[in-house]
Amino acid sequence: MSQSQGELEGQVALVTGGAIGIGQAICQDLSSAGARVIVVDRGDTSATVAAIREAGGEAIGVAADVTSEAEMAAAVQAGIDAFGGVDILVNNAGIFATLAQRPFEDIPLDEWRLVFEVNVLGCAVAAKSVLASMRSRGAGTIVNIASTTALKGSALPHYSSSKGAVLALTKNLAREFGPNWIRVNAVAPGFTVSTGVEQNADETARMRAGATSSRVLQREMVPSDVVGAVRFLAGPQSGFMTGQTVVVDGGAYFH
Ligand SMILES: NC(=O)c1ccc[n+]([C@@H]2O[C@H](COP(=O)([O-])OP(=O)(O)OC[C@H]3O[C@@H](n4cnc5c(N)ncnc54)[C@H](O)[C@@H]3O)[C@@H](O)[C@H]2O)c1
Repeated sequence: MSQSQGELEGQVALVTGGAIGIGQAICQDLSSAGARVIVVDRGDTSATVAAIREAGGEAIGVAADVTSEAEMAAAVQAGIDAFGGVDILVNNAGIFATLAQRPFEDIPLDEWRLVFEVNVLGCAVAAKSVLASMRSRGAGTIVNIASTTALKGSALPHYSSSKGAVLALTKNLAREFGPNWIRVNAVAPGFTVSTGVEQNADETARMRAGATSSRVLQREMVPSDVVGAVRFLAGPQSGFMTGQTVVVDGGAYFH
């Protein structure tokens, strides 16, 4: 299928945390479906943008922190200048693999604050930043990347709690934005061998060791396993779905 024949042809997608890992895979997949992509990250987005362009797609990279209203407003404006607006937001930026497992009482409050700031507030700020553009276009889709840890708990209580808040935010925004034909859904991946996980092998070793054996489909999960659900929820095939959570984890948790 050529770029111009994809199900997301004519759509513009803004993906946060698109520089590496799951976000990078999502950017490339949405592009392969025909979307033009605004790759947003506080890190270097050039590899993702180059990969999309090499494959014949269109993308721009914008440096922004999802917790900053001003930086996210500028990122959206850059997308409007380049591509005319935003139709799809994927809230993927998050803190996970750098978090060390330790007893609940040893987790510093500042780490709780940081996790909630990026994982929860970041989703809210990004949603706020795209709202005017989606409303002016008469429709939009938001896909929040949560985690199965929100459903079953984990050894990272602040992380799991933040993803639980992402699921609640998904339902709230689905209710509020529905009248504007903006659909809001979540994907909850299981443990995924992303760039961040590979870069933090010590912190993630225990989770990685147990992940495969917990699944019905017994292999490691990789970023490309997540993209199909995101594309489905971002695109027209899910046109009457909103407020939902789709679990992608090889059958470890039946939702
Ligand atoms: N890897 C997993 O096992 C797993 C499982 C379930 C859910 N998730 C979620 O999927 C998402 C991606 O995870 P990953 O493992 O690919 O992560 P990763 O560490 O590989 O990549 C995360 C990206 O987000 C960016 N980012 C972080 N904070 C940011 C901020 N404040 N502003 C802008 N960009 C920021 C980073 O620069 C990085 O490019 C996260 O929300 C994570 O919680 C991951």
